[in-house]
Amino acid sequence: MVETVVANKNASLDEQYKLLVKQIKNLLNKNDNTISNLSNLTAALKQCFEKISWVGFYLFDGKKLYLGPFQGKVACTEIRIGKGVCGTSAEKRITIIVLDVDKFSGHIACDVESRSEIVIPIIKNNGLYGVFDLDSTEYNSFGEIDKKYLEEIIKFLTKEIL
Ligand code: SME
Repeated sequence: MVETVVANKNASLDEQYKLLVKQIKNLLNKNDNTISNLSNLTAALKQCFEKISWVGFYLFDGKKLYLGPFQGKVACTEIRIGKGVCGTSAEKRITIIVLDVDKFSGHIACDVESRSEIVIPIIKNNGLYGVFDLDSTEYNSFGEIDKKYLEEIIKFLTKEIL
């Protein structure tokens, strides 16, 4: 089967996400391998939004976060809990929007061109599974609409797929 994801780049951000979320719910399949599902999820996001320079998972191995499936430039392979935006989101279990990475103390610059970022924690059965990290080379790229739909996608992922 050929998998495709279409984007309507002229629609409002809200409409673009609605279309994408619908497609993601069809694209991901709990009978597929987790790596396959996580990989396709990163590709779907990268394909639909030009503002995303990097999108991927950091997964929790019980001690630290390690680099999972992603789209974008090569990245650091390990992040300690409590460190950087990812480690802070994992520790506090909250979504973090960073409008200007230079203003986030302890930000880990995997890509020197990264200017803004959003990280969503992934919690499964009350345990930390990892985080979902999206970066942009522009300032102020992510806001409440991104947060709302990305959290919906992660909720679907944890409830239906993982
Ligand atoms: N900026 C992240 C590190 C991961 S990369 O951006 C891919 C952080 O501060 O946790």
